[in-house]
Amino acid sequence: MLSKKLIIAVMFILMLAAGGVQAGGDAAKGAELAVDCADCHGDDGLGDEDTPAIAGTDEATFIKDLQDFKSGERVDEDEMMFDYVEELSDQDMADLAAYFHSLPAK
Ligand code: HEC
Repeated sequence: MLSKKLIIAVMFILMLAAGGVQAGGDAAKGAELAVDCADCHGDDGLGDEDTPAIAGTDEATFIKDLQDFKSGERVDEDEMMFDYVEELSDQDMADLAAYFHSLPAK
């Protein structure tokens, strides 16, 4: 029955929303994805004069920043970030968040 499937689907989405994504960040996978970020943010995630430091950032803040760039809610002047977040899935963002959170902030 359709309605039963729908209920199961909704429950599944709610479960994910209730913390699955945030808790599911895999820092090892994030480290692989982070190779693309190092060009600007540096291997250590500490950035430079043109790029903000992202090491040690709280995971929820980090994911929100990436989602805002992706949705266009936050526009970076040179669109440097948009090109990189465009193709990231929610899971990729959670993995990256877990990885950068694990790096020591300055
Ligand atoms: C081409 C250079 C470049 C690359 C590559 C890049 N970034 Fe950025 N990033 C920036 C710049 C510049 C900003 C600041 C944008 C602004 O606020 O206008 C930024 C901002 C951010 C912010 C928000 C930081 C804050 O404190 O506001 C996060 C989080 C972030 N980047 C994560 C990433 C991740 C994760 C990757 C790899 C998938 C990545 N960046 C790749 C240049 C880059």
